[in-house]
Amino acid sequence: MPTPYDRTTRRTFLDRLARATGALVLAPISSACAARAAEPSKPGDPRAVPRERPAGWDPIEFNRARGNAGAIPASYLPSINGPDGDAKHLGKHLPYIPNFERARFPAGAIALMWGDSSKGYAAHPNAAPSQANPEGHWFNWIRIRKAVAGDAEERESRFSAWPHPRPGDNGAYRASRGDAPGADSGKDTIYIAELPSDVRPGDLVRIHAHCITHGEYVDFLVVPS
Ligand SMILES: [Fe+2]
Repeated sequence: MPTPYDRTTRRTFLDRLARATGALVLAPISSACAARAAEPSKPGDPRAVPRERPAGWDPIEFNRARGNAGAIPASYLPSINGPDGDAKHLGKHLPYIPNFERARFPAGAIALMWGDSSKGYAAHPNAAPSQANPEGHWFNWIRIRKAVAGDAEERESRFSAWPHPRPGDNGAYRASRGDAPGADSGKDTIYIAELPSDVRPGDLVRIHAHCITHGEYVDFLVVPS
């Protein structure tokens, strides 16, 4: 049984393969719209992701520790551990729910952005691959699970390209202002991700997402009505 980390490593490989070939490559365990089995909780594993929000949850400290344990690329560790690490690097990758018209995305989905300025965090930019940055910069998957102790569906939304998803992706983009998600260096981009079928407004969910440049981040949010 692969660990959550093993699965992520394989996905990263497949993501890079997809970008290199221009094709969408999917791991056997997850088609674009598949519900995922929740991974086992492994207390003591520094890369384990908690199913429920722990008492005293501190997403900055959790993600710093998990990042240093391998969930964040080594090249980014000096940034997250540096003097601006909390706001400009870790906080920048934490999800929040923007003030966005509910009518502008489907039922059964949630609108997310990264780096809540009301908490003093830097806004996360997004970028397509370019000569200067061949990898590009965006969140290529978002996994959402109801924050409960027992088994629960985890739904993965995939974003194989930015600012427009590829055919087969089940994630979508919106712009917080106007219709162009690429405005303001991509800081205007809203991610539209699918919710598991057992999630209702008011539920606490776990958001586990992957920035292709800066690694994985985890936080908990309440689904708005
Ligand atoms: Fe990033």
